[in-house]
Amino acid sequence: MLALGCDHGGYPLMKEVIDYLEKNGIEFKNFGTFSDASVDYPEYGKAVANAVAAGECEKGILICGTGIGISITANKVKGIRCALCGDVFSAKATREHNDANILAMGARVTGAGLALEIVKAFLETPFSNDERHIRRINQIED
Ligand code: RB5
Repeated sequence: MLALGCDHGGYPLMKEVIDYLEKNGIEFKNFGTFSDASVDYPEYGKAVANAVAAGECEKGILICGTGIGISITANKVKGIRCALCGDVFSAKATREHNDANILAMGARVTGAGLALEIVKAFLETPFSNDERHIRRINQIED
């Protein structure tokens, strides 16, 4: 199960992401927001990060205007490795190297076509399970 969250700045892109997930039969739990009315991104960043950290959802996608505020928020939660990505290479690498469990994107930065390729790479790329990457990930939490 995938956890979704966005603020008003991320809402237009989140609609595109939801459309992609539905077309591809990918299950998700949407923590909002559900309109383009102004809201505070930490509420949604925390909701998704807590769901992933608790194991309620395996991974998450967070979107705000830049992706910055909502990714900073998510990374405050223990066990969360939230990667702000604006390219496919980074989305693939952060899964392989960092075992990132939340993808963040900026709706005012990244166009929908690229964003959906980033989502696909993030969801389809497995963690490498290499010893050196496991060691480094463990050091993040130390
Ligand atoms: C909202 O205007 C905007 O500040 C927010 O979406 C995000 O970009 C914050 O980092």
